[in-house]
Amino acid sequence: CIIIILKLFLITSISEKYVFQSSNILKGLNIEYIKESCLPCLVKNCILPVSLDEETCMIRSGLCGTVRHLIQSSHHNNPGENFIDLLGFRSGSLRMCAEVSGWTKLCEVDLPDAILNLVEMDIKEENEIAIPVDLLKLEMHFSKPPKIHNDHKIKKRILVENRDEILNSESVKIDVNDSVDTDELSRSISDSDSTTGDNYGCVKSEPYTIEEIISAFKTIAILDVEFVHVYSEGLEMTVADLILFVYCYLLMKSLNFKMDALKEHLPNISTWLDHMLSLPRIKESCQQCGLSWNPRLAGINNVTFKILSDTVPVDENMELHNIDIKLGKHPCNEDVGINWNDLPLSAHPQEGAVPQKRIERKCQQLENLVTAVVKLAKPGNIIVDFCSGGGHLGIVIAYLLPHCKIYLIENKEESIDRARTRIESLQLRNVVIYQCNLDYFHGNFDIGVCLHACGVATDMVLQQCLDNNASFVICPCCYGSIVKTHRIYYPRSKLFTNTGMTYKDFVTLGHAADQTEFNIALADQGVYCANLVDTDRAELARENHYSVSLCTLQPKSCTPKNNLLIGVPC
Ligand SMILES: C[S@@+](CC[C@H](N)C(=O)[O-])C[C@H]1O[C@@H](n2cnc3c(N)ncnc32)[C@H](O)[C@@H]1O
Repeated sequence: CIIIILKLFLITSISEKYVFQSSNILKGLNIEYIKESCLPCLVKNCILPVSLDEETCMIRSGLCGTVRHLIQSSHHNNPGENFIDLLGFRSGSLRMCAEVSGWTKLCEVDLPDAILNLVEMDIKEENEIAIPVDLLKLEMHFSKPPKIHNDHKIKKRILVENRDEILNSESVKIDVNDSVDTDELSRSISDSDSTTGDNYGCVKSEPYTIEEIISAFKTIAILDVEFVHVYSEGLEMTVADLILFVYCYLLMKSLNFKMDALKEHLPNISTWLDHMLSLPRIKESCQQCGLSWNPRLAGINNVTFKILSDTVPVDENMELHNIDIKLGKHPCNEDVGINWNDLPLSAHPQEGAVPQKRIERKCQQLENLVTAVVKLAKPGNIIVDFCSGGGHLGIVIAYLLPHCKIYLIENKEESIDRARTRIESLQLRNVVIYQCNLDYFHGNFDIGVCLHACGVATDMVLQQCLDNNASFVICPCCYGSIVKTHRIYYPRSKLFTNTGMTYKDFVTLGHAADQTEFNIALADQGVYCANLVDTDRAELARENHYSVSLCTLQPKSCTPKNNLLIGVPC
């Protein structure tokens, strides 16, 4: 079904290097080999893999987003195959972007990087290699009980359905001392086909009479049943397993499939891999893709692993002094209004699923940002609405600035769908939509805007603008969810860092800054802390030769997160 609708472009330098060169699966696909330099500009703007829908000007970038899209398209074309199940409960598997979800980050960024680094090493010459920390993180993930939706219900069903089996089967062993102690009854679901929870075991000890077993069983409560990972997200296979499987294959291949040393340190990953390999459809797909499991390479008999620890030094001493919070004015002074009657209905936030009681305030927020952008923009500019959501901001800007090109960047599918519908009904020809993490976008632009990008996303937007020497209009949000990433560290500015403030201090400041709801006791402190966090951001831009103004949205009541950072390169 994918074959019919998709044309697959393989970048020659990359595809030759990995698994596809001898693969049968490519037969029958509509494939073109292409040099990276020959990619269309819109694709070059972001990281691979990318899916491009030219008709709707829609781009999806990043491994998880692209694979999820392939699964959705396959399901759409062939609903009977139930491919959509791979997206898990409420289609939520790997939906969150890597900055928000540690799990997506591990599957999409950290683990692939770590494994590819390992694979690139000439392991034949190394007898002792360090297990990457991210592989250990995956091992730890597998060792913890999975989070399962409706787990109470499933556990109850398993108990009821397996009651006879538990009582009669010889494989059921219940560890009971003098009295029945349900805490000591550890159970697992670990059979290869246990997505249905068919098999069920309890840890052993001596034989007991049937009366004792019955009495123990009566006391087994739902909370005593603990699931273990059959798949990486629980009891059902999801897209996460498919992605992880390919990288683990590459790792095993580079080790010439000599897995003993790895099994010793990564037993849970090994069990999961063995299980994946036992599934007929996975085996079949491996064969089709040319992923052979037979050892083919020579050497590496004596590879051993050592474990490296990942430590982050934390400085407890925070001294905040000499930080001057300078609050400026909006560049349009009091004149921040838009006449919404001059705009078509689809450009109005009420067309974008904003609840009625928030419409007025949403309009006020947009007016502050739109007027600042209109003042900065020049014809021909590329303006990027980062974290665009349903496109409230970008769509109004696109309508008011027809001679500028507007890119919307947003990770969430539902929001993108809403934006696309509105763009189509307005027949806007100057908008391109990127469905991806904002840091997967590498294109050039002149002005970056964002309204309420959560926590670290605000800092990623600011960094993108600084890297592009682009102006910015940024209204931050969710200070409490500020967290360092592989690219962003806190404090951001030299000014703040030189005070001795640590990352931990800054996170505390962020938490305090979130308490800005009107009429709460800590609101003043919250506003002060939010101003400090945004002063750090403003200082970072100033240190990068920007003229920056930190001001407040008008009226302040339009949102408790009402700071606005406007910066122009000097
Ligand atoms: C609070 S909403 C604001 C949406 C929109 N700007 C508005 O004002 O209505 C924040 C949006 O940022 C998106 N987002 C957060 N982090 C992101 C990231 N790293 N990459 C892309 N989108 C992100 C979320 O999916 C969400 O839609």
